[in-house]
Amino acid sequence: MKAKIIDGKILAQNLRAEIAEGVARLKEEKGVTPGLAVILVGENPASVSYVTAKEKACVEAGMLSREIRLPADIEEGVLLDKIAELNADDAIHGILVQLPLPKGFDEKKVINSIAPEKDVDGFTPINVGRMLIGEECFLPCTPHGIIKLIEFSGMDIKGKSAVVIGRSNIVGKPVAVLLSRKETNATVTMCHTGTPDIAKFTRQADIVVVAAGRPGTLTGDMIKEGSVVIDVGVNRIPDETKPKGFRLVGDADFDSCAAVASAITPVPGGVGPMTITMLLFNTLESARRVALNN
Ligand code: GUN
Repeated sequence: MKAKIIDGKILAQNLRAEIAEGVARLKEEKGVTPGLAVILVGENPASVSYVTAKEKACVEAGMLSREIRLPADIEEGVLLDKIAELNADDAIHGILVQLPLPKGFDEKKVINSIAPEKDVDGFTPINVGRMLIGEECFLPCTPHGIIKLIEFSGMDIKGKSAVVIGRSNIVGKPVAVLLSRKETNATVTMCHTGTPDIAKFTRQADIVVVAAGRPGTLTGDMIKEGSVVIDVGVNRIPDETKPKGFRLVGDADFDSCAAVASAITPVPGGVGPMTITMLLFNTLESARRVALNN
């Protein structure tokens, strides 16, 4: 193996220690404890695991964690009422509705009902629009974490060519926007299911972010020597040798990519811990804004 492993756990640990200090300072100086409400509708196993990790990280950083579990068969109105209640609750600075919602829910309507100043996921159209035009906003957590991971790998992003595979609202689109901002200054190409020959683009790229939701999307023969690979995929592969009966793999074929790249994120332990860390970062930032305005 040639590539350095970009350890998201270490970077997350460092940043979470700084966030915890920030939380303690805000409590001491302003008497404000950042509060995050995490709403989970239904029992999708991956979602249960994500929200549990988010709540644990929140408590470890010294924040208030409000856990809201709702059954999959509730009326959408109940969820909207709950969000309205949290929008008005001064103890809550961040509201997160875990996606995907069960079938039958209007995801856009639900996300739209979150007050933009508490939208620590950065998913509301207001925050997405602010990000696009470079106004102050909550940056979406996974894309923000990805930028931090590339910087942590030692690569200077300025002037580099980056390829993003995937065009989801949660990862692909926002990561392309963030990489091409003046501060980062990469030249970005977005590939997706409508791209006939993805390798034609990835072979030219200094940075490849793969967020396609499909194992084996990126292989070593598709990338340039010395490139940095960020693997956003989280795919469960059945594996009877594992206690849970599955193992996690990313969208990149790790071994073949690691033989060519200069640095690569592992799955698990790469992007995942950073998503949660940037959520804590946004929640602290939200609480700070409230404390400074009072
Ligand atoms: N589902 C997958 N990733 C995310 C995320 O970052 N936030 C929320 N709310 N749901 C998700």
